[in-house]
Amino acid sequence: MAEAIAALDEYEAWIDLLFTRFKIEVAQDRQPALFRALQNYAGSLEETLASLFLRAQRRQLTQDCWAQIIHLATNHETRFYRNPAVVELVAKCASEFPRPRILSVGCSTGEEPYSIGVELSLQGFANFQIHGTDVSAPCIETAQAGVYRVNDAIPEKLAPRLNDRRLMSFTGWLKNFVTFEQHNILAERPIDFAAPNIILTQNMLIYYRRETRIRILESLSCLLAEGGFLITAAAEEAHWKPQGLDRLHSHAATVFRKTP
Ligand SMILES: C[S@@+](CC[C@H](N)C(=O)[O-])C[C@H]1O[C@@H](n2cnc3c(N)ncnc32)[C@H](O)[C@@H]1O
Repeated sequence: MAEAIAALDEYEAWIDLLFTRFKIEVAQDRQPALFRALQNYAGSLEETLASLFLRAQRRQLTQDCWAQIIHLATNHETRFYRNPAVVELVAKCASEFPRPRILSVGCSTGEEPYSIGVELSLQGFANFQIHGTDVSAPCIETAQAGVYRVNDAIPEKLAPRLNDRRLMSFTGWLKNFVTFEQHNILAERPIDFAAPNIILTQNMLIYYRRETRIRILESLSCLLAEGGFLITAAAEEAHWKPQGLDRLHSHAATVFRKTP
């Protein structure tokens, strides 16, 4: 009994630490999986969960170690053209700008920014810039490498197949149009991508409570260029009533436009 209570205290302490240091919230239903993963990770370092926590509390963990812990604490599910209607919507909004600058926040391993890059290329956009950010450093490393399992939605001319045709690698010119950055949207550091015309955040806000979602949306709206679009997955915006942005009608997603 005493052991079970100690374990619960230990778990709560990890949740508190992740929140106070990084503002990362871990939903109740994801906590058991996180603790199992943390336990395995601690074991791989020849530590226990308790000894790893002690080092974390004493600020003795390296940046790489924290990167791994944050990676374990967040959900990274994604895929190419996960929501084709949203990719199409982004391309439609992009057509309003001569050189659209698109920011994808919580881009995981990069499939979302690359899907947009592929779509804009196929629709004949000659010039655009897409920037993907994610709090997870391992995810951003994968995105920067630009090598994925072959996917039928991605034409070979944009991502030539490698050796055994199980992998594909995005072409150099498309990679120049799609950049990535490790970044915590709840941290103070600015994103290295000024005045985007479109900001897309999908399947990230759902992991946060309402007040945190609204804080994220407020800061994204400040980043947005005048006349720009802020797009979230349907029903993720927690009934946010922004100032200086109009809500547009869309079936595919929730769309706001910053009044010029
Ligand atoms: C479920 S994935 C969604 C990926 C992609 N947007 C999609 O819809 O397929 C959510 C991503 O948000 C990232 N994330 C969570 N909190 C974040 C934060 N505070 N700042 C930046 N990224 C965050 C996670 O690391 C994860 O990769």
